[in-house]
Amino acid sequence: MENIQSQDHIQPRKGRGKLIWQFLKGSKAFFIICMLCSAISGLAETVTPQIVRVTVDNIIGSTPVDTLSPFIRSLLDAFGGADHLRRNLWIMALAVVAVSVIKVAAVYCFRVFNARGSETLVKNMRDTLYRHIEHLPFQWHMQNHTGDIIQRCTSDIDTTRNFISEQLIVLIRILFMLIMSMMFMFSMNVGLTLIAMIPLPVILWYSLFFHHKFRKGFQECDENEGKLSAMVQENLTGVRVVRAFGRERYERDRFGKQNSFYTSLWVKLGRLMAFFWCSADILSGVQIMLVVIFGVLFCLNRGMTAGEFIAFISYNGMLVWPVRQLGRMISEMSKAGVGIDRIGYIMDAEEEKDAPGSLEPPMNGDIRFDHVSFSYEGSPEMLHDVSLTIPAGTTLGILGGTGSGKSTMMYLLDRLYDLPEDGGKITIGGTDIRQIRREHLRRNVGIVLQEPFLFSRTLRENIGITVPDLQEEELRTAARAACLDDTIQSFTKGYDTAVGERGVTLSGGQKQRAAIARMLTRPTPIMIFDDSLSAVDTETDAKIRAELEKRFGSATIILISHRITSLAKADQVLVLDHGRVAQLGTPEELSKQEGLYKEIENIQADSSESLIRETNPLPQESIAANGSEAGMVNDDRKARKEVNA
Ligand SMILES: Nc1ncnc2c1ncn2[C@@H]1O[C@H](COP(=O)(O)OP(=O)(O)O)[C@@H](O)[C@H]1O
Ligand SMILES: [Mg+2]
Repeated sequence: MENIQSQDHIQPRKGRGKLIWQFLKGSKAFFIICMLCSAISGLAETVTPQIVRVTVDNIIGSTPVDTLSPFIRSLLDAFGGADHLRRNLWIMALAVVAVSVIKVAAVYCFRVFNARGSETLVKNMRDTLYRHIEHLPFQWHMQNHTGDIIQRCTSDIDTTRNFISEQLIVLIRILFMLIMSMMFMFSMNVGLTLIAMIPLPVILWYSLFFHHKFRKGFQECDENEGKLSAMVQENLTGVRVVRAFGRERYERDRFGKQNSFYTSLWVKLGRLMAFFWCSADILSGVQIMLVVIFGVLFCLNRGMTAGEFIAFISYNGMLVWPVRQLGRMISEMSKAGVGIDRIGYIMDAEEEKDAPGSLEPPMNGDIRFDHVSFSYEGSPEMLHDVSLTIPAGTTLGILGGTGSGKSTMMYLLDRLYDLPEDGGKITIGGTDIRQIRREHLRRNVGIVLQEPFLFSRTLRENIGITVPDLQEEELRTAARAACLDDTIQSFTKGYDTAVGERGVTLSGGQKQRAAIARMLTRPTPIMIFDDSLSAVDTETDAKIRAELEKRFGSATIILISHRITSLAKADQVLVLDHGRVAQLGTPEELSKQEGLYKEIENIQADSSESLIRETNPLPQESIAANGSEAGMVNDDRKARKEVNA
């Protein structure tokens, strides 16, 4: 969170325009039509006061028509001249209606095309962002909070849409109206126009001054909304932990505090805006007062006609309104600027790309870690000069304390994190994995992660997720190999049992086995089990391993485990200690050497079996089949005892 937020304090991002242009693909035409419609409606609006003016001065009044411009005179002639129109005043009324109809039609088209344009734009933005996020490196996802990313993909998209479909288009309309009304005003009375314009820079400056304050306020609100959603998201995800440790009150207080702070920000901003709008009202009142006073004086002394005065007041309204709007536009644009920058933060993150000329070599060769050193961004070095070879088709067991870098080694092998150039290299069949196409590599390296993730779908979908159109028999074979088939059969809905969000309705061991079954539906030449049997009991663990051996004899297997009984079957075992190779050899060799392996072997030989019976007097399946909290806690406790052993 800290990380992502600090990014927001950077200066307004360069290339906002470029980003918007990219998102506008496919909706530009709609917005151009919108602008045209907007111009037509603006024109219609500025024509109406002219009709009123001519009616008052030249048709009802007695001002001679030769003071009018030749264009208006020719229009009057076309309708039968001033005298004819005086006898048929309805024609002038009809003209006002006709202009209104044109205006309304233009506004209608504007709305229709604006809706099409903005929906196309938003769809395009969502598609682009989703595609981009999907291709961002694992590391980026680890560094950024899901809640915050989701907020950027929803409310910030909305802000951007409003910016383009409302503010930008309205801004163009405002400028158009300003120019048109000023032109008409100048054509009628230069002196009064200049007087009307004097206060405008003050009104504009006033808006700009507040714009700066609004920008800051919106940014703060946005950031805190992100924090709030991240907090909610984390709490919902970790609801079990919160309940289990009785942390509801603490979490509620924490949420309450953040929520109050967030609310107070909006209230503060609301007060500022209220002040701005009211004081700006006073300013524009002053401007109107000036125009009225001087207008009356011009009428009395300088021969300004009544029609001109009425039209002038109308145009003045069209002048003051847009300048006021300009203030609002600017303040909303500042919010949009923040939103666009927040989306820009995501778009700026670099997607995973394969080097040109990437290879797709056969993946059934030896795996070699060659002087591998690695550190996570901003952290001290984590793996130090790790070298070992895993001959093709053999099994490597890895043993090591929590945080010793076991999972990190696997992430590197699967290129979830990239090894820097000076961090040594990892090769498969002699090819540096940096030169292997990522998709090819990951298709061939099956990995069961330490914390298996299940989607809130059925077991069938979860297990068969990597293989489209998986046959029932293949599905069951995979589940059987993972010792899960019997359990699933015992559920009322069998394979069609929904697992709840992230698999909450399954026990830890069941989740792990579902993840294993998922991998077994698509056997790969390299298979990694990252502590993935920690939550199943020793017998099931042995059964699963026997199944694997039987079915995948030729695969290279990496097995991270804390169970000596599992590791004892490996061809060689690596003992990792704080990111260093502490021991490497066959299980027999290691059980003769002094070191972690032997220590754990002794402890587990003494106590593990009796421990298991004590902590878990019920047969494993009967606990797991409940899918209950108790089942999971038991699984976890047992696993922990073995780890701690
Ligand atoms: N994304 C990450 N960013 C920074 N540090 C990390 C990250 N993931 C793991 N670490 C750190 O790297 C060390 C090794 O982690 P890991 O490889 O998961 O250990 P193990 O699997 O052996 O328990 C730990 O100290 C952990 O805190
Ligand atoms: Mg790990």
